[in-house]
Amino acid sequence: MSANTSPILTMRSITKAFNGVHAITAASLEAYAGEALAVMGANGAGKSTLMNILGGVIGRDDGDIRIDGQPIDLRSPRDAARHGIAFVHQELTMFPTLSVAENIFIDNLPIRHGLIDLADMRRQSQALLVQLGCDIAPTALVEQLSIGDRQLVEIARALRSKARIIIFDEPTSSLSGPERERLFEVVRSLKASGVVVLYITHFLDEIFRVCERLTVMRNGESVWSSAMSEVTPAKVVHLMLGVTENEGRMRAPRQMDSEGRPPLLSVRGMGREGALRDVNFELRHGEIVGLWGLLGSGRTELLRSLVGLDPLDTGALQREGQPATPKQLHAHVGLVTEDRRGEGLLLPQSIAENIGLPSLTGLRTSVGLVDRAQQNSLADRMIERLRIKVSSRDQAVGTLSGGNQQKVVFSRWLATQPKIFLLDEPTRGLDVSAKTEIMKLIVELAEQGCSVLLVSSELQELMRVCDRYLVIRRGRLVQELPGTADTAELMDAVSTLDSPAEIAA
Ligand SMILES: Nc1ncnc2c1ncn2[C@@H]1O[C@H](COP(=O)(O)OP(=O)(O)OP(=O)(O)O)[C@@H](O)[C@H]1O
Ligand SMILES: [Mg+2]
Repeated sequence: MSANTSPILTMRSITKAFNGVHAITAASLEAYAGEALAVMGANGAGKSTLMNILGGVIGRDDGDIRIDGQPIDLRSPRDAARHGIAFVHQELTMFPTLSVAENIFIDNLPIRHGLIDLADMRRQSQALLVQLGCDIAPTALVEQLSIGDRQLVEIARALRSKARIIIFDEPTSSLSGPERERLFEVVRSLKASGVVVLYITHFLDEIFRVCERLTVMRNGESVWSSAMSEVTPAKVVHLMLGVTENEGRMRAPRQMDSEGRPPLLSVRGMGREGALRDVNFELRHGEIVGLWGLLGSGRTELLRSLVGLDPLDTGALQREGQPATPKQLHAHVGLVTEDRRGEGLLLPQSIAENIGLPSLTGLRTSVGLVDRAQQNSLADRMIERLRIKVSSRDQAVGTLSGGNQQKVVFSRWLATQPKIFLLDEPTRGLDVSAKTEIMKLIVELAEQGCSVLLVSSELQELMRVCDRYLVIRRGRLVQELPGTADTAELMDAVSTLDSPAEIAA
């Protein structure tokens, strides 16, 4: 921004501690009309906390927030809204059983003659949605919408409240490719109308596409602010972590033969009407297999059906040569599902309790009580191994940053020492160095003879570790590619249009 325009928003020397533990020690940023400011930082750096302060969700201990140069007091989300600040949450905060229009107007229903003016509400909602370039019906129920559409409804709500500053905290992590592109368009049009966008993400490519400037946070401090044009992706990573990351391949692809042993898992003729069709594959000892397909291709369905979370119409499983039902398999696999909220983390409970959860039987004493000492030492090992950022093992999981919660999910399974791992987007929400940590772990597991079936939307990530790829399209495994396949081959494999015969089949 040129020096003669003054910022709409300034935050100066913000501090915040939770129970004496500092989450933010010195955070400052400024943002100008019509720009998107990226707020970057490793897991636990304090991004969400800073945005929650700006959104009036939590109070600050110290520091100064100004809009148009005027100091403001923020004691509640309502205060923030009055100052034109809106928050598009990652975990969307909507009323699923109400209509789109009702959600958009929830805190400001138009009243005429003492009644809610439904027609007016729908008309205005329609206009806002059109402005965002989408054709969602104002009368549709929110529960019928995709995640991407729900997010647009939240943005429409922000527009309705005439927000001048809109905070996006990891907005794309649950969106499909086209939904992501649509969101970028929306951000572009918000900027064109003079709105300030604060944009948090762990996807580096996004900030270079969407943002004009960035502020980098490290350990609760803002350590850098500049125009995007002054940094490269490598520089941003360096600023976030204070070190340089190597993003290359972690081990050469291997071809595992069975060495006379039955495969760890063998799947034959697995299918479910409308979702999966005639799926056949094996997982051998010590291999990392990438399940590669686009969002909606059936990746998640395949993993869920394998362990009985969704039903199967047909198919037979064998675990180490023995027939097994999906439910039986479930008891023997490490599973990270796509839905972090559904992982069954007990948010009010401590980290130690959460990590100990699936291995509870192993941690019980002879009289059936949980062995605290063992549980604690297990938690300490995992906290160190995965570098989980915590103030103590007794901290409630719900108070960890998003990425660190994901690490807790992972450590729960490591603790049970299964041989088969089914991982659906295990690094979602993790910063680059935490991603590398998880990928290292996956490699380690394979070296120990475990087998990993890995789903990731980030091809670069799969290409760091996979020994081979199973390509999935429309619920079918259509191709197998070797670990040496390059980006072009992998992209071709998923974007090839289905042949008419395939569609009819
Ligand atoms: N309510 C709370 N009680 C205790 N500690 C908290 C609370 N909320 C946040 N923290 C701590 O503050 C620090 C910053 O967390 P924050 O959620 O802001 O990180 P983040 O940068 O958004 O990370 P991520 O990229 O993982 O989402 C973390 O160490 C976290 O554990
Ligand atoms: Mg966060």
